[in-house]
Amino acid sequence: MTCDSTHHTTEANRTAWSNGRYKAWETAFGSADAEAQRIVSNPEYVVRRILPYLGAVDGKRICNVQGSHGRVAVALTVLGAQVQVIDFSEENRLFATDLAKAAGVSVDYAVCDILEAERLDLRHKFDSLVLELGILHYHQDLEKFFSVMRSLAADDGTLCLNEFHPIQRKLFWPSGPHNYFSDSLIKADVPNPVDAGPSLGECQYRFWTMGEVVTAVVNSDFQITHLGEHPDWNNSAIPGTFTLVARVSP
Ligand SMILES: C[S@@+](CC[C@H](N)C(=O)[O-])C[C@H]1O[C@@H](n2cnc3c(N)ncnc32)[C@H](O)[C@@H]1O
Repeated sequence: MTCDSTHHTTEANRTAWSNGRYKAWETAFGSADAEAQRIVSNPEYVVRRILPYLGAVDGKRICNVQGSHGRVAVALTVLGAQVQVIDFSEENRLFATDLAKAAGVSVDYAVCDILEAERLDLRHKFDSLVLELGILHYHQDLEKFFSVMRSLAADDGTLCLNEFHPIQRKLFWPSGPHNYFSDSLIKADVPNPVDAGPSLGECQYRFWTMGEVVTAVVNSDFQITHLGEHPDWNNSAIPGTFTLVARVSP
């Protein structure tokens, strides 16, 4: 994959994530105001998948990588963290900004390709990096992606990744490759939070094996401290998601 084609894929994915996105979140949640009230009334529930691995959140500097609509960022902020989102969709930023305002908190939101995060001057600024559900398959160079994570993390920082399991995405997801070892790019709809809503465009996805994910993490100067696999929401006989927790190598 050349730099040019990677850039082209990122731009196509950005276009899909920007097309009608504010409206889609508004339709799915009712309004930013309504969703903010739900988050404020139970922030722990919004971050239930990652909270057990973060330790005390109050006062922590957290980077929510590819943080989308901002629900996780707002919940963590309500719990006392100082949160920075990095995501490449301006429409996501607009929704997240309205969500934070309605929740009475402030979240920093940088619209930026995560692979270009060095231009944000955030080097080694974060105690924890939080990544949730639908992150890695937007990238075609995992070692580069995790080296960016290392550059954002403080020297005693941690990374908490809760992600779709490779078995689920590669073998069971209807639009997936149905081949665990496939390294092809797959074209499929960008997620639409409105059930049976119209297509909002297509993204190009690269699905990774568990071995590739683990190898890229440890080759980027992280030590893995936990790797948990969780049953699929619809078929408890297969893994649906996993949680990988790592700390910066001493
Ligand atoms: C499925 S969402 C992440 C999950 C999110 N926590 C949620 O619950 O909606 C994927 C996010 O990745 C962002 N994204 C994809 N590729 C990116 C890139 N190269 N740089 C920054 N953001 C990216 C999209 O804008 C989108 O908000």
